[in-house]
Amino acid sequence: MSIHFNVPSTVIAGAGAVRELAPQLQRRGVARVLLVTDAFMVSSGVVARVSEDLSVAGIAVEVFADVQPDPSEENVLAGFQRLQASGAQAVVALGGGSPIDCAKVISVLPNNPPPLSRFMGRHKVPNAGLPLFAIPTTAGTGSEVTKVAVITDTARDVKMMMLDAHLLPAVALVDYELTLTMPPALTAAVGVDTLTHGIEAYVSRQASALTDPLALSCIRLCGEWLETAWREPAHRAAREGMMLAATQGGMAFANSSVALVHGMSRPIGALFHVPHGISNAMLLPTITRYSIPGALTRYATVARVLNWARSADSDETAAQILGEGLEALNRRLQIPRLRDHPKLHETRFRSSLEKMASDALASGSPQNNPVVPDVAEIVRLYEAAW
Ligand SMILES: [Fe+2]
Repeated sequence: MSIHFNVPSTVIAGAGAVRELAPQLQRRGVARVLLVTDAFMVSSGVVARVSEDLSVAGIAVEVFADVQPDPSEENVLAGFQRLQASGAQAVVALGGGSPIDCAKVISVLPNNPPPLSRFMGRHKVPNAGLPLFAIPTTAGTGSEVTKVAVITDTARDVKMMMLDAHLLPAVALVDYELTLTMPPALTAAVGVDTLTHGIEAYVSRQASALTDPLALSCIRLCGEWLETAWREPAHRAAREGMMLAATQGGMAFANSSVALVHGMSRPIGALFHVPHGISNAMLLPTITRYSIPGALTRYATVARVLNWARSADSDETAAQILGEGLEALNRRLQIPRLRDHPKLHETRFRSSLEKMASDALASGSPQNNPVVPDVAEIVRLYEAAW
């Protein structure tokens, strides 16, 4: 079977990469953009800095800063209205995964009318949209290099996963200097999301010769730099390492796939509004232990690449070390268990288990896991992780 591999046509990575935005827009003859971002990016001054750069270059900017965490269908449609009113020729996304995902869907709407539910699933966006220029400010979701967007359908409490090459940014500007002020709790949440991307891309049934090296490098960089970035926010080498990990993890999982952790994590986010990286982290040790029998050697390799197991350890020993190591990592990064998370209430959690399990299966991600569970097994795994 042939390998399909999609990444942005241009990725510019490194200190100061954000200053390449105006030249990249000019190369493509863009004179007017919609900048999709959130209130934090406005208050932190980054939006003003980017807008100023564009104005100096003669590019008109309309700012849409109303994106919420876990962006909803309403967010996207409001941004689309602004796009139409502004006459923008391209979309710029600035922020974490939420603004970038929101911008992806806004950018395709001119040529693919709503409702958004018709884009849910794989390859459901028929036509290309406006060119998208993505600038991540967390490290991260990797959304700047992926063809995936997750938009919440608030009426049904479902996170709609959309995967289509038409959602792919044309240009990603990956500047780790934008992450130097990220607080430790956010660094932990997005960093464990990155590690989960690397691990799930590597153990996925869709893993390939083009995604494995990226996934393993992502995992290695997380092992080297995640805890340093968490302890010392201004540590430049750690921030650069985590930004590269996020980008590589994104390239890997978007062309392999995520698996059971992401599948079970999205329903927790949709119902309880737990940040994406945290809900992944809380599930990762339990799901890893469950999945090891389906990909023992690969999980053992992950433990060795993280430098947690030695090359002399047997695969069984290394994989066991991985499960314990992921739990210990959560404790060191002060990520709670599900039962201790302030947004999770036991009664509602237990009464939602059937819905969460069937929504998880319906997303398609669990089917790429080394061990594929049914609804009853997913319910048991939620209970085990609790
Ligand atoms: Fe993720």
